[in-house]
Amino acid sequence: MRADPYVIEAGAGRPVVLLHAFPLNASMWAPQREQLSSSWRVLCPDQRGFGGSPLPHDSRPSVDTLADDLAAVLDAKRIDQPIVLGGLSMGGYVAMAFWRRHRERVAALVLADTKASADSPEAAVNRERIATEVVTARSSAILVTEMLSQLVGPTTRAQRPLVHGRVKALIESAPPHAVAWAQRAMAARPDSLDDLRTVDVPALVIVGDEDEISPVSDAEEMARALPNSSLVTLAAAGHLAAMETPDDFNAALKEFLAGLPE
Ligand code: MLT
Repeated sequence: MRADPYVIEAGAGRPVVLLHAFPLNASMWAPQREQLSSSWRVLCPDQRGFGGSPLPHDSRPSVDTLADDLAAVLDAKRIDQPIVLGGLSMGGYVAMAFWRRHRERVAALVLADTKASADSPEAAVNRERIATEVVTARSSAILVTEMLSQLVGPTTRAQRPLVHGRVKALIESAPPHAVAWAQRAMAARPDSLDDLRTVDVPALVIVGDEDEISPVSDAEEMARALPNSSLVTLAAAGHLAAMETPDDFNAALKEFLAGLPE
């Protein structure tokens, strides 16, 4: 069933779509919207169930569903031009699914703080435990206890209380059913390394050097698989590099965008 995602949009020009991390929403991309929208049309959808997007009752948890949601957004907005597609962490998993299913709509790919590998059986079991717990408790608070400290790096934990507080508030406001759905979708995702080998458009891989969830070794693996890619490692940034060091993240993104063929 269609989700009709809510999309935050700014600017005009070639379309750049940014897909958010779990369990956040499109508001995480505010610094990127602000800095890119003078030259680009920046679209940031809330993935189904998060932010302003509904979670249809009968939808099967899958990153493919989220990729098809994006294709429907592009159709609804009559965007025929191939997009620059960026995703951070879960957003990266969806970007890889979009490449598998809708590659003709992609002009360039940005994979940030994400990984190509599928979940281990243990990780998938842990996701199911969390999915069950948040729905039973009707609260996503468990994610604050279990995930917050890994989502941002040690520098942010020690020196950026505003960013830390904002991430905490976003986690707390994540709807439990959306959290459960996304956990199950991520647990079911396939390994995407072979898909990355087929990417025939320019790609940028970005990673925070303090990322504990998708560490630098994951970024290096993706960059090796992508035929036409560059890898940027950001200092003093953790898993949410786009929020933790937005100026450095945006500098890497802008340089990549400026170098794309017309
Ligand atoms: C995210 O930031 O989107 C999540 O950490 C991804 C994951 O749980 O694998």
